[in-house]
Order: sequence, then structure tokens, then C-alpha cells
Amino acid sequence: MHIEIKRYSGIPLAKQVVQTITDRIESGLLKEGDKLPSVRQLASTLQVSQVTVSKAYSQLEQRGFIECVQGRGSFVYREKSANSLNQEKINSSTAWQLETIDYLSRAQMWRQYHAGIMNGTYTFDSAIVHKKLLPSEEISKEFIRELQQAPDMLVNYAPAQGDLQFRTALAKSFKEQDPNITCDDILVINGAQQGIDLVARTFIGPGDIVYLEAPTYTGAIDIFLSRGAKVLSVPADEEGMRVDILTKMSDKFPPKLIYTNPTFHNPTGNVMSTRRRIELLELAESYHSLILEDDPFRDIYFAQSPPPTIKSLDEHGSVIYIKSFSKMLSPSFRLAALSASGTLLPRLIAAKTISDLGSSLLPQKAILAYMVSGRLNKHLKKLNHTLQARRDTALELLQQYAPAEISWTKPQGGLSIWITFPVWVNTNDLLLEAQKQQITFLPGSITYAVQPEYHHLRLSFSNIEEQDLRKGIIILCQIMKQFLAQKKTAVNCKMKCNT
Ligand SMILES: Cc1ncc(COP(=O)(O)O)c(C=O)c1O
Repeated sequence: MHIEIKRYSGIPLAKQVVQTITDRIESGLLKEGDKLPSVRQLASTLQVSQVTVSKAYSQLEQRGFIECVQGRGSFVYREKSANSLNQEKINSSTAWQLETIDYLSRAQMWRQYHAGIMNGTYTFDSAIVHKKLLPSEEISKEFIRELQQAPDMLVNYAPAQGDLQFRTALAKSFKEQDPNITCDDILVINGAQQGIDLVARTFIGPGDIVYLEAPTYTGAIDIFLSRGAKVLSVPADEEGMRVDILTKMSDKFPPKLIYTNPTFHNPTGNVMSTRRRIELLELAESYHSLILEDDPFRDIYFAQSPPPTIKSLDEHGSVIYIKSFSKMLSPSFRLAALSASGTLLPRLIAAKTISDLGSSLLPQKAILAYMVSGRLNKHLKKLNHTLQARRDTALELLQQYAPAEISWTKPQGGLSIWITFPVWVNTNDLLLEAQKQQITFLPGSITYAVQPEYHHLRLSFSNIEEQDLRKGIIILCQIMKQFLAQKKTAVNCKMKCNT
């Protein structure tokens, strides 16, 4: 088994072994009953001490991921996660492939969640907007109209930087935040996801220090890890990333890049205060670091509009800003805008060019027509109103039915609520119970880059119809109560047995 050991990462070696094996079990690459290499074998393959591997195996056993059987070896204990339900077929003729090094062990897990494997009636797992709340029909008409008007758009590559008219409209819509922005400062990308990837490919190499919030957007973690970055997590509270802690960490490990999702943060829903935004900028300026401001939820707000973008406060060209259409219009258009100043943008345009030679023109033209006709703004007003009502329903039901031991955020925008349990609860186990009743949510552990916390979950209220939202939360609250009661009994029993 290959495990990529990062000797100078500052993360204990045993912990790295635990994390990789956990990821492989949760992602379904290792399945129930699979035999792990012996302690001696793995220690020799990884060139670490046997004590390190023993320690890792005993932690995995304590967490219920593996079972170590005297004289027989260590085996994957049970299906720890629902992802394993749809495991790849690993037959004996391809089993050797598990030895082939890949640098995306966590991404397997993300891929499976993303593929919608966790289908259920009560879909609280994905932070997207329900199809009935999106103007898909109107936009599909724009697609047809645009194509009929200019069928020649199919016969050539689109400009790598993006359609000029679309960039001009984007620049206009960004002006409220960034008065000096022009179409030349914008790059059209295939979703925010591609933006993060392009920034990482362009500016991050082995050993570079990248800071992420803890928790963070899962899809960003692997991108930086796969570049060989030293990824460090900064705790966040309701005011966003703890810049005071980041400052202390930066003394020892100066940042090359700080990735943040400051506005209606995924997964917590929190908003970084203006004060923190300014402090973060000051820190980045003092280290000549880059800030990647990932902002897909900015337009989805309920009471008042969020604080200014970090980009709009930036006078030194530290910030690369990304805004996506996935949440507000369609995740499937794969359309987002990236803006950056100085020499950063041309380098990112080059990266985009070698990556895919430019985004498809048709979605750009269709959304352009939808934007300039004023329909996008109207749609957003209506959408926000509906989502606010969904958020209110979710919060009221939690207030009424949730067990007393849990707490949750009260997001003022975005699509998700972050629920926190006592530390002895593992929401991966809770998910298995919830799925039996057709309920899905995102277990919090996959949103941590470094030291996962298992006692949170993300509940998205946006991809579900009102009546299912009501029913689903009431059922989930019952499941949570039963689950907590069972765990408490188990803990009490253990304590009695130990005395
Ligand atoms: C914070 C954050 N960034 C990026 C993305 C990916 O967005 P896109 O669909 O624009 O690639 C998501 C999707 O959930 C997200 O939550």
C-alpha cells in the first residue's frame, strides 16, 4: 500500500498513516474485510518505524475502522461510510493498481459524495439550489436563441480569457465592489473549482505554505495537497478565519497563499467581519502572500448585503477573486469569473489556456443575455426570499425538535447550516443511521484539511422542497436523539466496566 509520507509537514507520521487509511476506507478504495499490510511490511515500505505503524493501527482500531486479529493481521473492520455502498469493483486482476501512487487519496471520497451516491428523499447533503428554484427553462431558451443567431460560434475556439461582451457585463456587475475593474481584469473559468485549480497550478509548488480555514470547502483541499503544498489549517469562529492565530503561525511558516471563503462560508455559513478582512489583507501584504477569495455565495443573502469583498479592500494586488454562477443559476454551466490585478492575471490566463484553451462560448452568451436583460437580478431577489424562508423553517424546526446537546449556526446567507455535537459523536456513524431513513447530509470530517473533527455536520436547506425539508428535519432530529441516547449508554457502560 502506498501512503505518501510528508516528513517535514509538521504532522506526526502516525497521524498521516491514520488519515490516509481512513480516507481510503471512507472513499471505498479499501472495503470491509480487506487485509492491511503487516506492521513490519508497512513500516518497511514507508521507511518509518514499526512503532509508528503500530500506533497508527491501534488508533484506527480505536476509531472502529480496522480490526487487528492476533496472529491473522489487520482488516478493514466495517463499512464506515455510506460511500462504500458503491465501491468500485476491485477484482483480483486489477488489485495491483492499489499500489500505484496517486496524489488524490481524499479526492476519491469527495468524488463519491459529488457523484450524488448518497441519494435520498431528504437531501441535505449538497449545497446547491433545488431545480424548481432555478430559471433553467428561461436559460435554455437563451441557449437556443443564441445558437440560432450565431451558429458559427461552434466552429472555432472561444477566446481563452472569455467572451469580451460577457467580461464587460461581468465587470459592470463587479463595479459596486471594485469601481476600477474593467473587462481586461477578468478571466472566465469553468466554475470556481477550475479557478482554485488554476491558481494552485500557477502559484503553488512542492513545499509552499498554503493556509486554509478549518473547516473549509472540501474541494479545495486536494488541489493544494496534490501540488505538494504544505497545507496548514487555521481555526475559524463566527467572525471567520482567526487572523490572530494565522499571524502567529505565519511567524514560523510564512504563507505563500491563503485560501478563504469569507462570505457565507462553506460549510459553516459564517461571514468574515470587515475587521478580519482588513487584518487578513495586512498580513498578506506584509508577507507578500496571495489571498484566494472564493466567493460563490455572495449574492445569496437574506437580511443585509454582506461586507465588502477582500478584493475591494486590496490596494497591493494581493487578492485573486473568484465568483461563480453555480449556486445562483446552474452548477452545470460550469461558469465563473476570476479577477486579479497586475501580472497575476496574465499568468492565470496562460494557465487557463494550457488547461482547456478557453471556456465554451455558448453558456457565456446565454448567461450574458440573461444578465443584461435584468432577469438575473430579479431571479436573485426571488431566490433569496425563498431560501430565507427555507432557512427560517430549518432553524425553527431545529429549535423545536433537536436534542439539547447540539448547537448550530444561523446563517444570514448561503445554503447551509453547520451543526455541532458533543465531541464524542462521530457524524459518519450518524450518517449511516440517517441513510436508513433516506436522509443525507455532509459529515463534517471531510471538510478538515489537517486534523478532522468528527462531531459536526453540514445541513444544506437549499436542495430540497419545503414539505420534505420539514419532514426530513423532524426525522433527522429523532435520529439524532436516539443516536445520542445510545452513545451515552455505551459511554456509561464503558465507564462502569472500567471502574
Ligand atoms: C466554497 C466553494 N468554492 C467552490 C465551489 C465550486 O463551485 P463551482 O461549481 O463554481 O466550481 C463550491 C461548491 O460548492 C464551494 O462551495
